[in-house]
Amino acid sequence: MKLSKLLPAALILLTGCFYDVESVLYPDTGCAPVTTVSYTKDIVPILSQYCLSCHSGTFASGGIPLDTYTSVKRYADNGQLLGSVQWASGYSPMPKNGNKLSSCKVGLIQKWIEAGAPNN
Ligand code: HEC
Repeated sequence: MKLSKLLPAALILLTGCFYDVESVLYPDTGCAPVTTVSYTKDIVPILSQYCLSCHSGTFASGGIPLDTYTSVKRYADNGQLLGSVQWASGYSPMPKNGNKLSSCKVGLIQKWIEAGAPNN
């Protein structure tokens, strides 16, 4: 076979291997959109898995403990919680030095805050 025929075939093979669909590579296990977001069932598990390693106890990072409802509510109400997980400008992107939370998880946090961040 001539090179001129091999080249297009090689290009198709190469591009065919290129996957950029994040949801296919990293299925978002443990997160599904819900109608009513529950603090206990939906928000606490996210915070425990991604945030509490730094944000709990006496020496919570940034002086921001996220291990009690009262404290989480405070940062939900002042916009810092959502701004940080959305990596919005003007906020420190959280989890610090980690990957951005999936859009499903950020969506749950946003919806919970928009509902008034209830202790439900
Ligand atoms: C590796 C440690 C670490 C992890 C994990 C982490 N944080 Fe932080 N966080 C910090 C530090 C340190 C600060 C202080 C500001 C800074 O250094 O960026 C901070 C600051 C913040 C702030 C204030 C940001 C601002 O700009 O007002 C919020 C809100 C916050 N974190 C929420 C979270 C949430 C929610 C998670 C989990 C999704 C999380 N953090 C995970 C270390 C961490």
